[in-house]
Amino acid sequence: MENHRHHHPATGTGTGTDEFAMAELLDLDAEVLHSYLSEVTAWIQQLAAGLPPRRILDLGCGTGTGALALLQRFEQADVVALDISAQLLHRLTGKARDLGVADRVRTVQADLDGAWPAIGTVDLAWASSSLHHMADPGRVLTGVFAALRPGGLLAVIEMDSFPRFLPDDLGIGRPGLEARCHAALADRHADEMPHLGSDWGPPLSQAGFTIEAERPFVIDLAPPLPAPAGRYARATLGRIRSSLDGRISTDDLATLDTLLDSDGPDSILQRRDLTVRTARTAWLARRR
Ligand SMILES: C[S@@+](CC[C@H](N)C(=O)[O-])C[C@H]1O[C@@H](n2cnc3c(N)ncnc32)[C@H](O)[C@@H]1O
Repeated sequence: MENHRHHHPATGTGTGTDEFAMAELLDLDAEVLHSYLSEVTAWIQQLAAGLPPRRILDLGCGTGTGALALLQRFEQADVVALDISAQLLHRLTGKARDLGVADRVRTVQADLDGAWPAIGTVDLAWASSSLHHMADPGRVLTGVFAALRPGGLLAVIEMDSFPRFLPDDLGIGRPGLEARCHAALADRHADEMPHLGSDWGPPLSQAGFTIEAERPFVIDLAPPLPAPAGRYARATLGRIRSSLDGRISTDDLATLDTLLDSDGPDSILQRRDLTVRTARTAWLARRR
């Protein structure tokens, strides 16, 4: 593994428990939304028709959701999986080993807010829910453009919103809890992560890309859902929880904590009425 940088205070990476929770969340996201993921990679395959990629780059790969799905889709390809977090890359390496594809994965630890890492030329790049973490996404897109071979593709995926799971009336607390949590979170994100939910079309064009396609993916899973959906809901709301102190009422915080308590009778893990509702937008852009 190349070792460009270890710690990045601004993204909060490098803190063990936080990263462990993030890793769990990313893995559950991949597991619960696997059919969406398969749709996206099939869509890319269609647009890459005739020239399947051999070298793929996953930017801000996390635990490897995109990297591993793309390796499955493109059986002739290798992937460079790049992230700032050594811990997430380590987890990715273990998963690749379990899947028998370790020899097709190279992990690179690098901070994309710094100098562009030496990864060579690639045929396909993928950035899912990662550009919004960058201080200057335009600069990163210029780097990707230069790293792609002429004719190569970049897929960018952005969350329109965090997933929602709960009915309006939970039977405990005041109805509308999840909506209030999301509204409070949106305020915080507007301050701290201004690129979250961006329209990446204009920045892609500005970096020199030609946009081949833009497509919404709407996810709406209805009950009964398998057990990982409950754990995904708990991991998502648990991550949100830490941002909500002082932003929602103490009554709402207490209800949220009741849901998050995995052993309690009102735990979210016990609910049979969970849904998974979220939307993502994908752009497929080409370096001509
Ligand atoms: C929301 S996660 C998405 C992970 C993965 N792409 C997925 O779809 O599951 C964002 C990822 O971007 C990484 N990241 C954040 N800032 C970064 C930076 N400056 N350089 C490289 N990676 C970064 C984080 O460590 C994290 O793994």
